[in-house]
Amino acid sequence: MYSDTNTIGIVGAGAGGEAILANLLEIPGIIVKYMCDINPDAPALELARKNNIQCITDTSLKVLLDDTEVDLIFEITGKDKVFEYLQKNKLPGCNVMGSAAARVMFHMIDTQQKITTELKAYKIMLAERVMERTDELEFVNKELQQQVYSYQILNEKLQEINDEKTKYLVNATHQLKAPFAAIQSYVDILLAGYADDLSDKVIGIVGKIKTRCVLLSQSIKEMLELANLNSCIEENIKMENVCLNSLIAEVIDMVESISEARRIEFEFKQCTGNCMVKCNPDQIKTLVQTLIENALNYSDDNSEIEVTLIEGPSTRVTLTVTDHGIGIAPKNLKLIFKEYFRSNEAVKKSMNGTGLGLSIAKRIAQIHRTDILVDSTLGEGSSFKVAFSLLQE
Ligand SMILES: Nc1ncnc2c1ncn2[C@@H]1O[C@H](COP(=O)(O)OP(=O)(O)OP(=O)(O)O)[C@@H](O)[C@H]1O
Ligand SMILES: [Mg+2]
Repeated sequence: MYSDTNTIGIVGAGAGGEAILANLLEIPGIIVKYMCDINPDAPALELARKNNIQCITDTSLKVLLDDTEVDLIFEITGKDKVFEYLQKNKLPGCNVMGSAAARVMFHMIDTQQKITTELKAYKIMLAERVMERTDELEFVNKELQQQVYSYQILNEKLQEINDEKTKYLVNATHQLKAPFAAIQSYVDILLAGYADDLSDKVIGIVGKIKTRCVLLSQSIKEMLELANLNSCIEENIKMENVCLNSLIAEVIDMVESISEARRIEFEFKQCTGNCMVKCNPDQIKTLVQTLIENALNYSDDNSEIEVTLIEGPSTRVTLTVTDHGIGIAPKNLKLIFKEYFRSNEAVKKSMNGTGLGLSIAKRIAQIHRTDILVDSTLGEGSSFKVAFSLLQE
């Protein structure tokens, strides 16, 4: 389709020649060297002069025909004689194109130019659209940033309110601690008989007061603990390398007197592999104690509780506490981690309880980037699982 032709001469400087010259001037790589016409006032001659193209007005066209650089001659006069003359006298390496062929070619060039112009317009339109969309996106982005900013402010305010609430709760519960401790010691004095001889009836009532006091002190302790855990800055919690086998054995020892009295047997399968974890030992002790005490509280006497610690899955070590007690109804499985929730079965089995133990344990698990999973069948027993990340060597 492409030839090496790049030097051109045009014969015929009328309106057609002028149109062809104008077109050729637009095409890169093409040199129009000659514009020829016997009429010195032909319109294309003026355009040719303006573009420093050599103009020939003699009839022989010798300069054009003898020029070895000329590859192609456009004959635009429409006269057969001129075409024949050019064909006859041209050099062998030169081609002559008649008016009809030139018209077809320029029709093609014209069409191509139209397409180019349309493409340019399309490009401009696309660029404008991209700019419009960019503006829109910038606007939406700014709005989003503003919203994020207002949410941040709102969040900070909520955090402040929450901190205030926690502070108030901690203060109030703390204030309650001292009077309860005092009541408890007065009750102990009465029960020990230091005040006076009391009738059995009074001793019975005072004994009930003591039980309630113990329960309330326990509730206050748990409320304080949960409030502190909720408001603590996690980064400030002291973490230590802990052997979970020893920590769990310590907790089981702590409840030994209760389990022995109720003839509940603990079977502790220690971990035979790695069980070193980085944790806050006090918090993990509380978590393990909660699971073990619940297993005790919600089991029948003469039953068995299995505690196992197994390395895995992957880089974790898993603690499982399984009892054969009252179990948990499916509808309550989600609720047991909510503050103050106690199932009817649990209240029947053990009156004393605040319903805060598992909320505290769950928060501790969260601080240690883990979770407590539960599997239970009502009337058959429950199994609680926690997987801790092993200490990386
Ligand atoms: N091992 C278990 N078997 C059956 N139900 C359980 C068991 N552990 C927990 N639950 C249920 O989950 C509830 C919440 O337990 P959680 O330890 O938070 O509170 P609690 O035992 O009632 O009181 P406390 O806060 O004094 O421990 C219990 O009241 C009981 O309904
Ligand atoms: Mg409990």
